[in-house]
Amino acid sequence: MNSSEKAPIGVIGVGWVGLVTAACFAELGHPVIARDVMAEKVDSLNRGEVTIHEPGLGELILKNKDRLTFTTDMDELLEGAKLLFVCVDTPPTYSGDADLSRVRSVVADLRADGDHVLIMKSTVPAGTGETIRRDLPGMAYVSCPEFLKEGSAVEDFLHPDRVVVGADPADSEAAAAVAALYEPLGGEIVLTDISSAEMIKLASNAYLATRISFINEIANVCEEVGADVGEVARGMGLDDRIGPHFLRPGIGFGGSCFPKDVNALKLLAGNSGYHFQLLNSVIEVNELQKRRVVSKLTKHLGSLVGRRVALLGLAFKPDTDDMREASSLVLSARLRGEGAEVVAFDPVAMDNARSLLPGVEMKETALAALENADAAVLVTEWSEFRELDWDGAAARMRRPLIIDGRNFLDADKLHESGFTYEGIGRPGVGTETE
Ligand code: UDX
Repeated sequence: MNSSEKAPIGVIGVGWVGLVTAACFAELGHPVIARDVMAEKVDSLNRGEVTIHEPGLGELILKNKDRLTFTTDMDELLEGAKLLFVCVDTPPTYSGDADLSRVRSVVADLRADGDHVLIMKSTVPAGTGETIRRDLPGMAYVSCPEFLKEGSAVEDFLHPDRVVVGADPADSEAAAAVAALYEPLGGEIVLTDISSAEMIKLASNAYLATRISFINEIANVCEEVGADVGEVARGMGLDDRIGPHFLRPGIGFGGSCFPKDVNALKLLAGNSGYHFQLLNSVIEVNELQKRRVVSKLTKHLGSLVGRRVALLGLAFKPDTDDMREASSLVLSARLRGEGAEVVAFDPVAMDNARSLLPGVEMKETALAALENADAAVLVTEWSEFRELDWDGAAARMRRPLIIDGRNFLDADKLHESGFTYEGIGRPGVGTETE
């Protein structure tokens, strides 16, 4: 290899994290060989078909296709690359603990030849890496947790705030090699031990989730005392010690990481004999927050039996088709439980949502969902909802009432269109109740 050639990268598990990792290292000039057990997925990726909805990812894969190989063959991967990123799923089990079976099966498939470096991107309970390292003598082990956000994963990868690299002192050469891969990206590199690296990931997500539950409770108090949580968050965020991010109130956090990681950290603590009391409240506040819309609706409509409620947005956040732990799941079940008819529109998540939301009628456009509705609930803040023909929407609805679950819409503009508007933790407009 001459000095201008970049080290080949191996990626194990081509889900969302693996695919972003593979595409971005290829973009940085590395030959990348990515392995997955699902032959169908590998075939379609080799044909250039990307089924994951992630802005910029398809383009990046196409642009770097000459540097990207997808395979099902572990031997091909081990021959092709020394630096192996493990990006397999660690979903929650029934007990809420992380399911490490896929990580274990990858480890079982590896040949420890003293030359490879196993780099763990999958989120695992603190302490896992040390155990794997002991099971894999002859292979260096580095923990390098991912902090990518869905919808901006490519951007996050290429411009990280920080990169965490955890290794045993005996593997310091491997840690330096991993750090060197990320150096061109400019984020601060945190060199630390394996368990601390694992804890940084869990603690970061649990802290961000805590901020959201905190601001959601502040919003709920604002409603009681007539304050505006937007103003409160703005004033708080200007304090350097607090900062402005992750203080947006709403109808709860969702997604594949926050709910899972908060619970996993709570259980990790519990399994180790420590009762992490604060996280119980973070989870409970989030569960209750998803349901508050129901009481907002009954305040205006009385009984919801036979009322038609239109949900605008279903995905757990905008710019993704991901429905995992989306607030829309709990909310629509609660509404149906109250006897309401639920109709919905989401720009990209409806295909994924259909099987998860039996009995919810999906419509092809937002306006079609609003036809004859007694109320609309903005669940996901897709930018196109700002541009909606709200005059036309008001005319189509049986009653122009909107609950803005993300404080995303312009309350005054909606009022001009004839709407009664209510957000989260801020004064409503035209909210005289019956
Ligand atoms: C998150 C972490 O941000 C990322 O670092 C980690 O690797 C994976 O988990 P992601 O799940 O893609 O990323 O979504 P994120 O943008 O962080 O939002 C998570 C949830 O919190 C969404 O449901 C969002 O609507 C909600 N949220 C976020 C709020 O309710 N208020 C906020 O202020 C911010």
